[in-house]
Amino acid sequence: MKIGIIGSGAVGLLSAAYLSKNHEVTLYTRRKEQAELINAGGISLVKGNQESISLHLRAEDKPAYTEPLLIVTVKQYQLEDILNALKKSPPKTVLFLQNGMSHIPLLQTLSAHRVFVGIVEHGALKLSDNTVKHTGFGCIKVSPLFPGERLNELPVLKMQMDHFPFEYIGDWKYMMSQKLLVNACINPLTALLRVPNGELASNPMFNKMAESVFHEAMKVLSLEKGQEEWEHVMAICRNTAQNRSSMLKDIEEGRMTEIDGIIGYLINQAKTEKLEVPVLHFLYQAIRGMEG
Ligand code: PAF
Repeated sequence: MKIGIIGSGAVGLLSAAYLSKNHEVTLYTRRKEQAELINAGGISLVKGNQESISLHLRAEDKPAYTEPLLIVTVKQYQLEDILNALKKSPPKTVLFLQNGMSHIPLLQTLSAHRVFVGIVEHGALKLSDNTVKHTGFGCIKVSPLFPGERLNELPVLKMQMDHFPFEYIGDWKYMMSQKLLVNACINPLTALLRVPNGELASNPMFNKMAESVFHEAMKVLSLEKGQEEWEHVMAICRNTAQNRSSMLKDIEEGRMTEIDGIIGYLINQAKTEKLEVPVLHFLYQAIRGMEG
């Protein structure tokens, strides 16, 4: 089927490289040079010591978005123009793959479309404008945002492929809250301390700091099963021990971070529920200050 992938960072390149094996993929880039590079040489997918080139796809820097299935991989703070374009477009199936939750109310205004949200559990590293390394094999979990949406509306779920599976989750709120908890505990602290994820599990002092973030975030998200959730966060730190979190990379490369969608969202929720979250405020200000 025809699939449009919007955003050509690590997740966009990885999705395009895999899905173009079975589908007619158009990858929407922001920069013309990147689109030209991909159209000339395809996307290189690096897995361990192997490298394969995906040539059967098209890259486009003009936002046509005509495909019946769109997969949106840009950061949450880059969504505005895409949402405005979608509001004028005929009904489509759209899968949003953003960290954080502050964009969810905006997606809820897209009721003319079949909207799915998803979380990416792959490790992916963009090595160049047309090279992506698959650093950790995971899956993409997807869930319908509007009640009554049928599973078979998302065709990629029916066409599974090795090393790039999709998994269906019924409860989008729990799925997104759990991922938000992981990102809240790992991303700002690793960016502030400039350490890879594993240090939050292995360094006892950093582990205590992660625990303080965890307690405040759990309170705001009203998640139960505290011990289980903590084990889950720690398991991700250990499984991605050598990885530098996306927020650490954003800071190192002088980009804007996703602090608003992650910690900003939690602070706003805490305000509504009249909860005190001093550690989250501290992290928010630290990262905002580092963004320069
Ligand atoms: O944003 C990230 O870096 C990732 O979502 C995670 C899970 C924290 C691993 O680095």
